Formats: sequence, C-alpha cells, structure tokens
Amino acid sequence: MTDHNLWLADDWLELQRVCAGCQEHLTQEILNMKYEIERNRHHTVLRNISGRLKTLDSIQNKLVRYGFEVSPQSACANLHDIVGIRIICSYLKDIEDVVEALSNLPKFEVTEIKDYIAHPKPSGYRSLHVIGITTIEGIGIQCEIQLRTTAMDSWAALEHQLRYKKELPDSAFVNQELLECATLLEQSDIKMQAIHDYIEILNGWSRCDHIDEDQSSHQKWVSIHVPELKDPKQ
Ligand code: GTP
Ligand code: MG
Repeated sequence: MTDHNLWLADDWLELQRVCAGCQEHLTQEILNMKYEIERNRHHTVLRNISGRLKTLDSIQNKLVRYGFEVSPQSACANLHDIVGIRIICSYLKDIEDVVEALSNLPKFEVTEIKDYIAHPKPSGYRSLHVIGITTIEGIGIQCEIQLRTTAMDSWAALEHQLRYKKELPDSAFVNQELLECATLLEQSDIKMQAIHDYIEILNGWSRCDHIDEDQSSHQKWVSIHVPELKDPKQ
C-alpha cells in the first residue's frame, strides 16, 4: 500500500469514528425524548431503539453504485444512511408523536421525511423514515431514523430475510402473498390503535389532544375501526 492509500485509509477510519459519535449522541437524545414522552402516557411509546453503522465496504459500494466520487467527504455529502437508527413504536399514532419530537431534538435538523406508511412501497414495506443532519465536531452527518410499529417491523424483518436484495427469480405468487401479509398487518395496526384508544377512554385517560381536539370525533374514530366496541362508557 502506498503512503497515499494509507492516508486515505486513515480518513475512512476518521469518518467511522465521527459517525459512531454521531450515532451515540443521537441515540442518547432519543432516549431522553422517550422518557419525556412516556412521562405523560400510560403505555410504552418507544418499544425498542437500535442502531447500526454502515460498513466501509457497504459505503464504498453504494457510492460506486450511485456514480458518486468514492471519498469520505463524498460519503458525508451524498449518503443519508451511514448512521441508521430504528425505533419500534407500539401504535400508529405513537409514530406521529415521535416524528414531532424528533423535529424538536437539539442538534438534529430534519431534511426529509419518506412516508412509506401513507405511501407503502409496492413490496408492501411500511415505515416512516426521517432523514436529518447531526453536527458533531463541526462535521454534518446525515442519519436515517426508521420508525415502525411492531407489526411493520415483523413484516420487514421476515421479508428482508426471505428476499430483500437477494437475487431471487421474480415470483408473482410470492409478491402477492407478501403484499397480502402486509395488508393484514396494516389492518391489525389500525385495530390495535382503536382498541388502545377505547381502553384509554374506558380508564378515563383519554388524551384526545393527540388524536383530535374533539372527544366525540375521537369516539367516532374508535367506533369506525372497532364497530363492536361502540360506546366505551356504557
Ligand atoms: P438503500 O440503498 O437500501 O438504502 O435504499 P434507499 O437509499 O433508496 O432508501 P429506501 O428508502 O428505499 O430504503 C432505505 C431502507 O429502508 C433500506 O435500507 C431498508 O432498511 C428499508 N427498506 C426499504 N424498502 C424495503 C423493503 O421492501 N423491504 C424491507 N424489508 N426493507 C426495506
Ligand atoms: Mg439504506
């Protein structure tokens, strides 16, 4: 290896070091936010927080794949997922609350939201990706925070294992079956949310402000999604 290559190798390690610091900082901020949000709730909003750093091989392959210059500076500028954090929430509306809280995090500037919940991928993939920049030691690092319910996560984990980025022959049957599972889980998420809201009303805990200012329209929402549970006060 020439001196020049050694210098480049050091630079890549420096990128990894800064990104690791960035992931640690952001994870701690999210943990603080979890305690803050859950202080006012009767349930676990953020069930699990995990993170991963993209490997150098994977960073360099992605830069080549997208036709970008292969350098640490180019990686910082062009890749939004060197730092990846995944947050699993209990219910659909928890995701909305967490997105709002993320946009208020210090030292994290949201630059893009990819809403694959409102607009699922053709595969059936559902999640909400918040992309933002955390500045550490004067270097801005882009981070991708994936927000999912437990149901969305179980689908993504199994679908990933079964076929994501694998060179499988395309099978209309498999595509259709996986899409059907995604649809069933979407219905389950909606029903779970309604059951949760129903129980909150039942216990007199209803935080209708996070659903709708208007209590009666909240009850209407519950009765549409869980018709058998029409009036929780009865
Ligand atoms: P990548 O090159 O994979 O990072 O894709 P991208 O930069 O174009 O972003 P995209 O929003 O498509 O996907 C980002 C991440 O979301 C992926 O790395 C996966 O973690 C996840 N993801 C996206 N689509 C799917 C999918 O169909 N199935 C599963 N299991 N995960 C997905
Ligand atoms: Mg990615």
